[in-house]
Amino acid sequence: MVKMAELNRPSTVTPHRYYAHITGWGMCVPEHIFSNADLSAILETNDEWIRTRTGIQERRFADEDQTTSTLALKAAQQALSLTDVLPSEIDLIIVATCTPENIFPATAVFVQHWLGANQAGAFDISAACSGFLYGLNIATQAIRSGSIKVALIIGAETLSRVINWEDRGTAILFGDGAGAVVLEAREEEGGIISTLVRADGSGHDFLKILTHNHPEIRSKAPFSDLKIHKVYMSGGDVFKFASRILGEAVREVIDRAKMSLEDIRLIIPHQANARILQAAARSLNVPESLLMSNLERYGNTSAASIPLALCEAVREGRIAAGDNIVLVGFGGGLTWAAAVVKWMVGEPAVDRRKEGRRRAGYALVKVRTRWYRVARFGRWFLQRILRRRPLDE
Ligand code: COA
Repeated sequence: MVKMAELNRPSTVTPHRYYAHITGWGMCVPEHIFSNADLSAILETNDEWIRTRTGIQERRFADEDQTTSTLALKAAQQALSLTDVLPSEIDLIIVATCTPENIFPATAVFVQHWLGANQAGAFDISAACSGFLYGLNIATQAIRSGSIKVALIIGAETLSRVINWEDRGTAILFGDGAGAVVLEAREEEGGIISTLVRADGSGHDFLKILTHNHPEIRSKAPFSDLKIHKVYMSGGDVFKFASRILGEAVREVIDRAKMSLEDIRLIIPHQANARILQAAARSLNVPESLLMSNLERYGNTSAASIPLALCEAVREGRIAAGDNIVLVGFGGGLTWAAAVVKWMVGEPAVDRRKEGRRRAGYALVKVRTRWYRVARFGRWFLQRILRRRPLDE
């Protein structure tokens, strides 16, 4: 007799146990470098103040023709190029961003279309600087349940477009960029070992970007007096929260993985401020060198910062196959998230034939767009004729 529990099990979920492995990684930063000296030309600030308070020396700003989705696409293409995955084999695309071009449609659907990932679901995550790890968590659970095999998780931002240039306390912090990972189901034990996602909405006022739909904006006029679509931050409050939560989240996620700090080769934290990283190293009682830092070159790139730092850590040889690493993020919401990853990949071998097929697919995007439009119209038209209904019904 079939048990009730078996009847209720969704058909796509197989009882097999899969692990979610990072098999590809990629990043894209704009070429335009904006240094502290450039900032001091337009703001009442200076290189010494910015470096000593934040550790940031320069950041990248997107050019006119670059958007969050174009940066996301480039990072995704680079990540795919290290894998055997063709775009048509991707099941899920998640973009974490707090600077989307639209409230909807999601940034992820542009990436889905431009890649030619015609079998993928696609959506954005709004969890500020923790968004990439929220996405990694969702995709990991989907892989572990057996419902999907391949996911693309991207963190992408164009924060330069939401900077409030009248607030020198926040204008100095942010930069643009994107980072991506490919997550694949494997039977081999490893990959994402444990995850943690949390929020504390009581701190929603500490770090925010308001839209036109916010009650404060709707009730007050003229709009120009208000900072719509610009970052507002209560720096001190965020600093206190971040310095405490980083260490706590690292300990908790390591505990969940049944490991100890000694098992960890590298911690890759959200790149917000060098002093926050120093405080975390002190509270964890580990050398500062255990925490990856590249914020001197990119500033705070919010959801993009962890995958960007991951790419650079691999490139610098700071992670090798068999290493355990911790990824940890925190930010607006307030939100925080972390993951322990058993890194299982060595030097990736690029399959030139597959890369050629992927590139041919990318090049055909315009043809694809027209073809899908024609096919949609054709299908609708045929249905109407077959049903013999008037066209204006
Ligand atoms: N250049 C020069 N002086 C500046 C300045 C700048 N860019 N920004 C602020 N100041 C001045 C202030 O006006 C103030 O001057 P005053 O004492 O004469 O009033 C003084 O520096 C101290 O300002 P304060 O805001 O108290 O500085 P701080 O030490 O708290 O540092 C931050 C400000 C933003 C660097 C710090 O709060 C921080 O890093 N917060 C966390 C930010 C963060 O990481 N956010 C993202 C998390 S996801």
